[in-house]
Amino acid sequence: MKPMEFLPLQVSHLFFRYSEREEWTLKDITFQVKENEFVAIIGPNGGGKTTLIKLILGFLKPTKGEIKLFGEEPQKGNYRVGYVAQHTTFSLDIPLSVIDIVLQGRLGKWKLFPSKTDRHRAMEILEKLKIAHLANRLISELSGGERQKVLIARALAVEPDLLIMDEPTSAIDMEGQKEILDLIESIKITRLVVSHDIKILMRQVDKIIYIHKTAVIHDGPKLEIPKETHFCEVELINFLQNTSNLETSTEEVGSEN
Ligand SMILES: Nc1ncnc2c1ncn2[C@@H]1O[C@H](COP(=O)(O)OP(=O)(O)OP(=O)(O)O)[C@@H](O)[C@H]1O
Ligand SMILES: [Mg+2]
Repeated sequence: MKPMEFLPLQVSHLFFRYSEREEWTLKDITFQVKENEFVAIIGPNGGGKTTLIKLILGFLKPTKGEIKLFGEEPQKGNYRVGYVAQHTTFSLDIPLSVIDIVLQGRLGKWKLFPSKTDRHRAMEILEKLKIAHLANRLISELSGGERQKVLIARALAVEPDLLIMDEPTSAIDMEGQKEILDLIESIKITRLVVSHDIKILMRQVDKIIYIHKTAVIHDGPKLEIPKETHFCEVELINFLQNTSNLETSTEEVGSEN
């Protein structure tokens, strides 16, 4: 076990803009993710969710404020994070097998070739995710849902202490979404999941962070979401705003906008 003396994630008064001429994309965001928490990030298109994830991973630098991953700068601490991106940054129409893709999670700057142990571990993860039968198939031949599971397997192959997923169920049919949500629920490590999918929130989420430039945080006991026939993100926001233990990181920032 790696030491857990620091919180997996601590975001403090984070401000970010893509260029000096622009408005803040993220404004005064403060929240933390504790060990073993399952945290959902929701919010409208263009609200800044993916930007926040990129900052957490150290791909972007805060304009102001601070992010600590396991007590370290994101660029240093990100080796402990498994990440499933919203859009894959590489084409999956490549002649690579599923096991090759999963093994990428075992390799790094200093390690170019997988060992026997790496292969064994990768197969164990595929078995756990119930996709071991796909191991030797080409990634290009798989359905969207199967590919997504392979990308989750690759993130788990890192043996992360924090798993971050950006819209893991987008562009997947209802049946596939359920399978992926079940899978995410079964992975018992600290998880941060960006989703528009209200079903994710109906489950075992410990904390919900609504991001639309600023953040509204619902932190506390398990959510008791009313079982109405229609309950979408808009109703959820209203629901959260009416709950008493609501905390908001929105502060007046004067002329800094
Ligand atoms: N590389 C970039 N350069 C400039 N602006 C960007 C860049 N990437 C994103 N933006 C802008 O930042 C804002 C936030 O984008 P972001 O992708 O973080 O939103 P999101 O909440 O993930 O949206 P979605 O739900 O559609 O995925 C948007 O207005 C977007 O146009
Ligand atoms: Mg996004």
